[in-house]
Amino acid sequence: MGLVYVVTGATGGLGVEFIKQLSKRGDTVIACARNTEKSEELKALIDGKTVHAVTLDTVNVDSVKQAAKQIQQIAPEGIDVLINNSGAYGARGHDIMHNPASNYIQAFETNVGGTSNVTQALVPLLRERSTRVIVNISSIMGSIDLNSVRGGSPELKKAFADSTAYRVSKTAENMLTREFAAYLDEEDFVVIAMHPGWVQTSMGGDQAPTTPEQSISGMLSVIDKRSKDMNGTFVTFEGESIPW
Ligand SMILES: NC(=O)c1ccc[n+]([C@@H]2O[C@H](COP(=O)([O-])OP(=O)(O)OC[C@H]3O[C@@H](n4cnc5c(N)ncnc54)[C@H](OP(=O)(O)O)[C@@H]3O)[C@@H](O)[C@H]2O)c1
Repeated sequence: MGLVYVVTGATGGLGVEFIKQLSKRGDTVIACARNTEKSEELKALIDGKTVHAVTLDTVNVDSVKQAAKQIQQIAPEGIDVLINNSGAYGARGHDIMHNPASNYIQAFETNVGGTSNVTQALVPLLRERSTRVIVNISSIMGSIDLNSVRGGSPELKKAFADSTAYRVSKTAENMLTREFAAYLDEEDFVVIAMHPGWVQTSMGGDQAPTTPEQSISGMLSVIDKRSKDMNGTFVTFEGESIPW
């Protein structure tokens, strides 16, 4: 029998692919989304046995509390792995000199506030079992060391000129990952920030070199091979360490 996974942002490119691959291999998946009816791909996977749907808006505390109750009903013996996948890029088209403060706040609210809300609500259910894994889908764009000042082709710099709010929020989400990793360390949790690659989704665009299938199968194999010493690390979907 497989494990019980909770995945947020299950309507999106990476989210729905997590649901597909996890259910195919026999894990139980609780697919959370603001509107679970929105995605035909997701709807086709929901069977109420292996794949359950739960309405969850990560930035709305009442919605998160309600979702946690429903998840507990679906999985009364607890959950094994929480994948905080939902994320926001912020409005496109603003370079650093024209980026409104609202853009930072929007990205921060989802990528930091949403991740925190869901984690706080689901840690009690993770504590019910011994697996205790939390994966925050981060981005290499949140790495301060790898910021384009220190490398990156002119094409990439141009393609991501409007990414400042997103980068800043993902850097903050990385610190949140380390904070939860430290807080939960003595309870044998493994809390990881993971870069999924540059992936062909509505966020990643058509030019991205990695397919959702490749990204998710890579991330699942990293999660499957986890060990306690991975707590508080930042890794790619291929398991390579990323400088903070
Ligand atoms: N694609 C890439 O190249 C890439 C690279 C690095 C990191 N990432 C990260 O990977 C994760 C998944 O992104 P993606 O590429 O699959 O993008 P996507 O297709 O835009 O999916 C984003 C998902 O997040 C959900 N979401 C946003 N705000 C939410 C909220 N408040 N509550 C619940 N769900 C919310 C969206 O739901 P709705 O359908 O309701 O809007 C959607 O399902 C994100 O964290 C992103 O930052 C992606």
